[in-house]
Amino acid sequence: MKRDHRYVHGYSEREDVRLQDQAGVLAELLHAGVRYAAGERIFEAGCGVGAQTVLLARNSPRARFLSVDISGDSLRAAARRVRRADIRNVDFQQTDLNDLPFPPGSFDHVFVCFVLEHLSKPLFVLRRLKRMLKPGGSLTVIEGDHDSTLFHPWSEKAWKTIQCLIDLQARAGGDSLIGRQLFPLLKQAGFRKVKVSPRFVYADASRPEWVRGFTRNTYIAMVEAARDEAIRQKMISPAQWREGIRDLRRAAGKSGVFCYTFFKAVAVLM
Ligand SMILES: C[S@@+](CC[C@H](N)C(=O)[O-])C[C@H]1O[C@@H](n2cnc3c(N)ncnc32)[C@H](O)[C@@H]1O
Repeated sequence: MKRDHRYVHGYSEREDVRLQDQAGVLAELLHAGVRYAAGERIFEAGCGVGAQTVLLARNSPRARFLSVDISGDSLRAAARRVRRADIRNVDFQQTDLNDLPFPPGSFDHVFVCFVLEHLSKPLFVLRRLKRMLKPGGSLTVIEGDHDSTLFHPWSEKAWKTIQCLIDLQARAGGDSLIGRQLFPLLKQAGFRKVKVSPRFVYADASRPEWVRGFTRNTYIAMVEAARDEAIRQKMISPAQWREGIRDLRRAAGKSGVFCYTFFKAVAVLM
């Protein structure tokens, strides 16, 4: 089995559940407007365990998807998920985005969600993805930006745990601050028509579904999963980590507030 061991979030069952929670709570925010026509061929880059795949394929039941990932285990989980949902318009293929085997013009559209942030050569991959598009085709990219995190009550200790994740991802060759760079990256990749829209998440106690689905089960779960590696790499002590996570959880408490910005870019090949 081919595995990218440098992938910062790892491939645990807990991460599988986190990706589901993330996709579920963000479905409307991120997928609004993503609809593909009957007969169109769509390439989903880095589908993971299929959390976005199910939404994409359901929303465009007459389009045909090829969803790829570097991880064979994730692809098998994605295939099971799609089968259970009785979705029949998706094929899967194990592929490294750094080594795309598809001829020019083989797809009508490309969809990429939370993947560029993990690649060491995002511009190189974007150029290759662009080549795979037919004229008039589109590339949709959705990425987060951890530096857009705002929370109350503020805590330096809590921020340190987030900074550990940012630094770990950078050490693994990725960039968790890539959301703000989508416009320049897509322009550099050669797209002339690019539109980026920020998608803002806001969660306080009056929106319990966002506190649970996003602040706790998506964001804090993601930071918590970095604990062992951050301690192993001596970025933080176990006691500092405990205090930081305790403070971060206050943002999901009764008087807590949490905000985060995703960036969604749509580029069209003229
Ligand atoms: C955060 S997950 C996102 C999965 C999915 N797009 C979603 O939003 O739920 C990132 C995925 O990118 C995949 N990935 C990382 N590097 C890759 C590469 N070089 N080629 C293909 N997939 C890669 C990982 O295996 C992982 O499944």
